[in-house]
Amino acid sequence: MPSTLLSPLGQKTLSKTTMQFRDDVLRGLNSPTKAIPSKYFYDQRGSLLFDQICELEEYYPTRTETSIMKHSARMIAACIGTHSRLVEYGSGSSLKTRILLDQLTELDSYLPIDISREHLHATANDLSVEYPNHVIQPIVGDFTKPINLPKTSSPQTKTCIYFPGSTIGNFTHDEASELLHSMRTTAGERGSLLIGFDLHKDKCILEAAYNDREGVTARFNLNVLSRINRELDADIVVENFEHNAIFNEQAGRIEMRLRSLCNQSIRIDDHFFHINEGDEVLTEYSHKYTVEGFTTMADQAGWSCRGVWYDPQRYFAVMYLEA
Ligand code: AVJ
Repeated sequence: MPSTLLSPLGQKTLSKTTMQFRDDVLRGLNSPTKAIPSKYFYDQRGSLLFDQICELEEYYPTRTETSIMKHSARMIAACIGTHSRLVEYGSGSSLKTRILLDQLTELDSYLPIDISREHLHATANDLSVEYPNHVIQPIVGDFTKPINLPKTSSPQTKTCIYFPGSTIGNFTHDEASELLHSMRTTAGERGSLLIGFDLHKDKCILEAAYNDREGVTARFNLNVLSRINRELDADIVVENFEHNAIFNEQAGRIEMRLRSLCNQSIRIDDHFFHINEGDEVLTEYSHKYTVEGFTTMADQAGWSCRGVWYDPQRYFAVMYLEA
């Protein structure tokens, strides 16, 4: 899908998603603590860089969650039960889901939700070939906004929301609580939630995971500036910024920023922003939880923990909750 279209007069008219991107970037840079929402990392190049991050030695979350799923898939599938439908928030390539789908032979249907239409449809197509006995119903949408799921095939069908990848960590505690509430509404009275989240651990391990030696995470972070240049009318000199990621112990989260290497002025459309050397733009929070802390937060949103699985090092947790 092209992000810009040419009108008959040759002016650039922005698509709806690009307009939203532009508004969010301008609002974020105008706020007292400059910020760009982390969901904008994931354009095509950003998604490729994220896949590379997942392969890094320092970046433990993806491979750890995958190993938990492989070890515990049968037990998790037993919790989800038969005749449930599985709704995945931000499904991407549905890599971890395949481990579950292999066990869930009597699943009612699988509904992957993703913001990226093309990627979602390509994945849904692959899945329908790999799992000819499963009903795959992709939904294009932003899971941070209310979602209207199609009616279930029978009143007995239960809804299980799958939210892997520690994506919940990108949200502040207030936003995470709100999302858990809205998931509770979406899943309904007999619904359930299967969620993966990253755990507190040694600061050195955490900071290494977000400051890899190859600099892939730095490229991933800086790519959001290149994306602004590509999709919006902007002239940011990407080299004038550097990647910064630290663990904020008090807040229990990794904070990723782009730090200005000089005094500079950047232009986006007809908006100018003056940025001093050392000024920072917040690009991502990645919250780390304790099982107790997460359970309390989920409890307040109407979810009860029914099971939790870990890796031997207790780096990561996968939790199953019921309404
Ligand atoms: C995809 C949100 C889980 O927070 O670890 C990886 C994104 N950022 N390296 C994370 C990310 C920098 C990742 N999540």
